[in-house]
Amino acid sequence: MRRKATITAIGKYVPEKILSNFDLEKMVDTSDEWIRTRTGISERHIAAEGEASSDMASFAFQDLQRRFDIDPQEIDVIIVATITPDMFFPSTAALIQYNIGATNAWGFDISAACSGFVYAMIIAAQLVENGLYKKVLVAATDTMSTITDYTNRDTCVLFGDAASVVLVEPTENAEFGIIDYLAKMDGSGKDFLYMAGGGSRHPASHETIDKKMHYIYQEGKTVFKLAVSKMADVSIELLQRNSFTGADVGLFIPHQANKRIIDACVNRLKLKDGQVLINIDKYANTTAATIPLGIVDGYDQGRLKPGDLLLMSAFGGGFTWGSMLMRWSLLQ
Ligand code: COA
Repeated sequence: MRRKATITAIGKYVPEKILSNFDLEKMVDTSDEWIRTRTGISERHIAAEGEASSDMASFAFQDLQRRFDIDPQEIDVIIVATITPDMFFPSTAALIQYNIGATNAWGFDISAACSGFVYAMIIAAQLVENGLYKKVLVAATDTMSTITDYTNRDTCVLFGDAASVVLVEPTENAEFGIIDYLAKMDGSGKDFLYMAGGGSRHPASHETIDKKMHYIYQEGKTVFKLAVSKMADVSIELLQRNSFTGADVGLFIPHQANKRIIDACVNRLKLKDGQVLINIDKYANTTAATIPLGIVDGYDQGRLKPGDLLLMSAFGGGFTWGSMLMRWSLLQ
C-alpha cells in the first residue's frame, strides 16, 4: 500500500494593518457596496512598510510553533508558494530557512500564483509518500500590496497580504491523510493575468516603471469565467475518480478570489452552505495563502475534525489550477 502523507501542524500570519472598503473609497472611485456585492470582500490586511513575504512566512511558522511542538532543525524540506518573493534570488525558501533556524532543510520556491499552495502540497506529498523525507514545510506567502496599483480600482480592491504554513509528514494511520490530487495548467492564460515588468522579458527600467508594468494586470471577466468552470471541473474529476460525491465532503476550502466564484463552484458541486469555508470578507485574495489560511480558520472554528473529508481547490495565473482531497487527521 502507498505510504500516506498528512498535515500535522499549521500556522498563519496576517499583518496588523487593515485596509477597509471605506478606506479604498477615499483612494479610488469605488464603494463599499460595489466591492461587497461584486466580490464578497469587506477588508484586507496590508503588510507593514518593509515587511516582505519571507518575514510573513516566518511569523506564520512562529504561530505554528506556538500551537505545536516542532523543532525547526527536524524540518527536511521547505517549499514556498509565492509570486511575491523577497527578491529573484536567493529563494524565499532560503530566507525562511535562515529566519526560523531550519538548518538541516533544503528547499525552493514555486511560482503558480493562486494555485501555488495546491501545487506545493502535491510536491510535499510526493516527497513524503516516496519515503525520501519525513518533515516537509509548505509555506504560502504573498505580499500582494507590493505589486498592486492603488490607483487602479479594477485590481486594488481584490487583494490582501498574508502567509500560512503547514507541515506535511508520513501518517501511520492509513485511514487519514492525503488521498489524491490533480494539477493542471494552460499557458494561453498568460495574456489575461500577469505582472510584465522586472523579468527577463521586460527588465526593470524607467520605461517599465512609467508604464506601471510592475503591477498586476488582469482581465477580470475572462479570469472569473474560467475560475468557475475549471475549479468546479477539477474538483468533480477528483471526487469522481475516488468514488465520492459532493455529499461526502466534510469541508470545501476553495481559493478565495471572489465570493461569486465560490458560490458558483458550490452550486456545481451541489454542496450545502455548512460544507464550505468562506473567509474572503476579512482577508480578500491573498493568492497562495488563501487555502492554508482557510485551513487554520476552519481548524480554529472546530470545522475540521479527524476523519472529515477535506476538499481544496484553486485557480490562478498561468492559468494554473488544481485540487487536493484528504482525510483530516489533526486533533484539536
Ligand atoms: N468599484 C466600482 N466599480 C468598478 C470597480 C470598483 N472597484 N471595478 C470595476 N468597476 C466597474 C467597471 O469599470 C465596470 O463599469 P462599466 O460597466 O461602466 O464599464 C463595472 O464596474 C462592471 O465591471 P466588470 O468588470 O463587469 O465587473 P465584474 O462583475 O466582472 O467584477 C471582478 C469584476 C474583477 C470583481 C471580477 O471579474 C472578478 O472577480 N474576476 C476574477 C478575479 C480573480 O479571480 N482574480 C485572481 C485570480 S484567481
